[in-house]
Amino acid sequence: MCKLNIFANYKISHSYTLEAKKFKRYTVTSALPYANGPLHIGHLAGAYLPADIFVRHLRLQRKDVIYICGSDEHGAAITIKAKKEGITPQEIIDKYHNQIKNSFEEFGIAFDIYDRTSSKIHHELSQEFFLNLYEKGEFIEKYSDQYYDEEYDQFLADRYIIGTCPNCGNENAYGDQCEKCGTSLNATDLINPKSTLSGKPPVLRPTKHWYLPLDKYQPWLEKWLIEGKKDVWKPNVYGQCSSWLKAGLQPRSMTRDLDWGIDVPLDEAKGKKLYVWLDAPIGYISATKQWALNTGNDWQKYWKKQEHKEDDSCLIHFIGKDNIVFHCITFPSILHAHGGYILPEHVPANEFLNLEGDKLSTSRNHAVWLHEYLEEFPGKQDELRYVLTSILPETSDSEFTWKDYQARVNNELVAILGNFVNRVMILMHKYFEGKVSHHPEITDRFVHDEIGKSYDLVEESIATFKFRQGLAAVMDVARLGNRYLTEKEPWKLIKCDEAKTRKILQNCLHIIAHLGTLMQPFLPGSAQSIFQMLNLEKDVFNYDEPVVFSDGHQLNEASLLFEKVEDAAIDQQIAKLQAASATVNNPIAVAPARENINYEQFAAMDIRVGTILEAEKVAKTKKLLKLKIDTGIDQRTVVSGIAEYFEPESIIGKQVSVLVNLEPREIKGITSQGMILMAENAEGVLSFVAPEANFQNGAVVR
Ligand code: MF3
Ligand code: ZN
Repeated sequence: MCKLNIFANYKISHSYTLEAKKFKRYTVTSALPYANGPLHIGHLAGAYLPADIFVRHLRLQRKDVIYICGSDEHGAAITIKAKKEGITPQEIIDKYHNQIKNSFEEFGIAFDIYDRTSSKIHHELSQEFFLNLYEKGEFIEKYSDQYYDEEYDQFLADRYIIGTCPNCGNENAYGDQCEKCGTSLNATDLINPKSTLSGKPPVLRPTKHWYLPLDKYQPWLEKWLIEGKKDVWKPNVYGQCSSWLKAGLQPRSMTRDLDWGIDVPLDEAKGKKLYVWLDAPIGYISATKQWALNTGNDWQKYWKKQEHKEDDSCLIHFIGKDNIVFHCITFPSILHAHGGYILPEHVPANEFLNLEGDKLSTSRNHAVWLHEYLEEFPGKQDELRYVLTSILPETSDSEFTWKDYQARVNNELVAILGNFVNRVMILMHKYFEGKVSHHPEITDRFVHDEIGKSYDLVEESIATFKFRQGLAAVMDVARLGNRYLTEKEPWKLIKCDEAKTRKILQNCLHIIAHLGTLMQPFLPGSAQSIFQMLNLEKDVFNYDEPVVFSDGHQLNEASLLFEKVEDAAIDQQIAKLQAASATVNNPIAVAPARENINYEQFAAMDIRVGTILEAEKVAKTKKLLKLKIDTGIDQRTVVSGIAEYFEPESIIGKQVSVLVNLEPREIKGITSQGMILMAENAEGVLSFVAPEANFQNGAVVR
């Protein structure tokens, strides 16, 4: 039987030149997310999607790699959430661990294990780390004054204390950080501190803790980091480390007075817990142990220094930028102090992803939640993977907008990738009943060389953590295919030369097979759909496995890889974000009550239901919209300061409440006749105050 594998050879032949190639084994981790809430797109883009692409890529090269993650189930983040939801910490972690795990699965994040830090193995290993350092005398034991809530009889985690930020005056700064100005704080820095448990000012009490002497490790860290990682790590990562070193490291407390977590394994430390540094990252190791137990593997190969250095596993931590110091200074110091463990080779931390012009925020509900996306865009996981990979915050913060999502799906996935595959499949069925047959001619040299280059470029991009560039290189293969098809015009050729038409379309089939192969790390579901359409016997193809079509091979029916995203779906998402941030309320920062008024003062206000007929931005202002409103009485112009929260197009047709007997006022040269009632929360986010159901314009509000 003849096989057609014209493109097969360069998968094997191209040379690997990268440094990273020297490793035989890889231990890849993604930051353990706190099991205190669902995941959003910022999580995915920060630490999981890049790692997943990286790991899938290594697997396609048949590398020995494990990909490790799990839920971080300890700390104040969990207990605070439990208090808020009125359930126990255990119920919180069970709920969110399962939800997070499910979201990861749905998006194809291909962990070898997704474990949890509440496991017995993890508690034991963390305690083993503590005792190891303790017995070596590494820790500094120190008393310090810490805030204590006398009414609740407990020490307060930093997050349980709020007060005024000494830096910017924000009255709701937390004991570890002011979220307004971003300064990291000590609880004792706060002016007028209050316990969030009792609402009362806390008192200072001395408490003993165990500190890791980072200052002592500083010379060693400098040698490792400055000599070894400069110009190797991303500048955003290296920069943060070197500025910490420059400032001089301080001992860090490894224990806390907390009520949820891993017990400090000492009699004298009753009620104290291991702090996050000696807990969460050790989760990478304990999860590996669990995986090894499940699969009959040896976990030590992936974590311990081997007899010969060249046999060490290559440890890579994927994280967001808020965890850089943790993974580049603290955790390596712990591994070093313990001894016998390998250190991270790379820490390709990402910057932050913003959403529609604003920071992603859980507390303000300004986020695209993965579990909601899965419900609202069923089967469109690869679309989100595609868009997020295209905008990964690899070197600086980046931004997700729904319009951009729509444009990338419609103009790239549908119009370029999907279109190429679809055209070829349709033509193969139309002219040749979807049957591939042997033909002896060599393919176009140009196409051959271009695809070869694509393999090299994808390889180089992923190995250097440039995932955006890698994805662009894959898309260029689809572009190449479209160009080839357009130039060769098989739909014309078929009229005079059937053999040549067949040759061209079958070349295209090979381009599709390579496209599918190269797509796998980025768009695993769509790559599988391609292999199914091509009716191949497998749904994963390693890079060194040629896709071969035997003589007479029958293709499956063409089906669309991607569908266009309609405006309505996008508008709905934008409206949802606006509504979400508008409904968030910050109980701490409610405006104080105002003085009483009498009924007459209230009744003097003539408030009516109206409908917005027209809306446009007032030139040269940021906040103002000029609205035309049908008040039932008349149609009038109202200037309203809501432009930062609403797009003009999105509010046309909306019902509102209008104060119609307010004296007309000149605003930016426009006479404003009345005022729209808006609810405004502590963050200044606005929401319309309107009748619940559509109502007659002119109806009286009172
Ligand atoms: N759960 C923590 C966070 O999200 C720590 C993650 S990093 C790890 O910031 F090392 F603990 F995994
Ligand atoms: Zn501040």
